[in-house]
Amino acid sequence: MKKRPLIAGNWKMYKTASEAVTLVQTLKAAAHTVSNVTIVICPPFTALSEVSKVLNDTSINLGAQNMYCAPEGAFTGEISPTMLKDSGCRYVILGHSERRQYFKEDDILIHEKVKTALKYSIIPIVCVGETLAERDAKKHFDVVKTQFDESIGRLEKEDIAKVVIAYEPVWAIGTGKTATPDQAEQMHSYIRRLLNERYSQEIGSRISILYGGSVKPDNTRSLMEKPNIDGALVGGASLKAESFAQIIQEAQQTYESGNHS
Ligand code: PGA
Repeated sequence: MKKRPLIAGNWKMYKTASEAVTLVQTLKAAAHTVSNVTIVICPPFTALSEVSKVLNDTSINLGAQNMYCAPEGAFTGEISPTMLKDSGCRYVILGHSERRQYFKEDDILIHEKVKTALKYSIIPIVCVGETLAERDAKKHFDVVKTQFDESIGRLEKEDIAKVVIAYEPVWAIGTGKTATPDQAEQMHSYIRRLLNERYSQEIGSRISILYGGSVKPDNTRSLMEKPNIDGALVGGASLKAESFAQIIQEAQQTYESGNHS
């Protein structure tokens, strides 16, 4: 049985607070008929509070794009879990490949952040994924296994059950090159197997595994039809209310038609 899909929008470093409010107001109007999809939007930190006010009377969830692993302290430039909660966040993206690549985040730090998010009841969306060179060298399963083992594979059972995983092949992010539904499904079922083996079948089947990397309205359905793809983490196409709403609609229709190969 397919899980209720989760569609998350990662706005990256786009939109001032006032632009974010405009976007979210349009999205709110476009998404008001959606009942079978969990929607999460992740604006930049500076827009969270304003966006949270607009989302107040909706079922759209708010998330952040990063977080530090301490509740407070002398960590110049960082944002804590308590600050995120205070801004209305229920989710946080952790270990995004852009954080790994440009800000040198490693799995040890990501693991600490995941534990901290869970401690403060924020749902982490933990990203894993290989580069093109790693895929070409046929190391993609090993790379994802190491990221899985080190960032989330040591969590207790009750903690892992609250995590959302996003498989985002680095070569597909912002490039217009989506993994084919079969390539994505292969990795998703591999991650599901890791969860089943490390924890249990019951936990493995409960955890949502999202696909991310050039998700657009016209490829959503073919991805969402795959048995182990439970949703999407959307970058570029989440910056326009129209395309993000279309992705949400596609996910809802695929779910409602129970159509998966
Ligand atoms: P993209 O980004 O949809 O623009 O490829 C996805 C992501 O980085 O989360």
